[in-house]
Amino acid sequence: MNQANTAGTGAAARADTPGAAARRESPDFSGRRAVVTGGAHGIGAAIVERLRTAGAQVVVLDRETGPGVVEVDLADRAAVQEASTTALHRLSGVDILVNCAGVLHPSALLGLDLAGYDTTLAVNLHAPVLLMRSLSVPMAEQGYGRIVNVTSVHARFGEPLSLAYDASKGALESATRTAALELADHGVLVNAVAPGFVATRMSVVNGEDELSAEPFTSVYAGQGRLPLRRAARPAEVASAVAFLAGEENSYITGQTLTVDGGLTARF
Ligand SMILES: NC(=O)c1ccc[n+]([C@@H]2O[C@H](COP(=O)([O-])OP(=O)(O)OC[C@H]3O[C@@H](n4cnc5c(N)ncnc54)[C@H](O)[C@@H]3O)[C@@H](O)[C@H]2O)c1
Repeated sequence: MNQANTAGTGAAARADTPGAAARRESPDFSGRRAVVTGGAHGIGAAIVERLRTAGAQVVVLDRETGPGVVEVDLADRAAVQEASTTALHRLSGVDILVNCAGVLHPSALLGLDLAGYDTTLAVNLHAPVLLMRSLSVPMAEQGYGRIVNVTSVHARFGEPLSLAYDASKGALESATRTAALELADHGVLVNAVAPGFVATRMSVVNGEDELSAEPFTSVYAGQGRLPLRRAARPAEVASAVAFLAGEENSYITGQTLTVDGGLTARF
């Protein structure tokens, strides 16, 4: 095991405390208004923490409750539209949209469960596109906006039993590029962040110590397929999102920033 990259190792662990990292190096989000989907848990919650700590006002769209949450089932198109209007009203506008909510249902091509397929596409692809459509309007009007879509290494690489998820993430990366072209003239930059393995309940169900969970250490790290030999912490993905969502990013659009510990660096 590479100790330098092991969860809980001295200085590295202290630096990754979400609040500490944000206070030290965040872009300044004072006065910025952000909508973050999936912000009640996991990566989304780390993004919300990061933005709020740096001064942003954040409305979360999620089906689970929490601080600043507008409860919504993102699989329901009408509800997405309504929640988007509510968020705009609460924030009196919007500067940043982070589409982070996502679902992962096992799905094989043969015998594909169409209900699970539809839900996956609705939450992972259609809701982000609908929110980009509605919230890019006020962004374009004010001539400033940042949109970050959380995709996955699954956008570019397949895995058995992951058909719907892979399709949804690949399509969201395509939509990210095309939206970036359309919004470039309006001061709105659109990018994606593609995580590899992140220690959240989506990827591991292992009680207290998610970073040492079996699927990562035995299957991926154990086979030498994951150079950094551990899952990412949600805060490490949030850092990449914060960079692309901030004013410091002034010339990157239509791109995907991969945060995967080197997983896709080898073939
Ligand atoms: N965890 C990983 O290893 C990993 C890897 C690559 C990409 N991702 C992506 O990162 C994003 C966040 O995943 P996570 O690991 O934090 O998962 P998570 O399960 O911890 O959080 C997902 C969040 O989305 C919300 N959500 C799901 N379905 C919803 C719905 N129908 N309506 C409203 N809210 C809904 C959940 O309530 C939750 O707050 C997802 O898009 C996921 O695909 C995760």
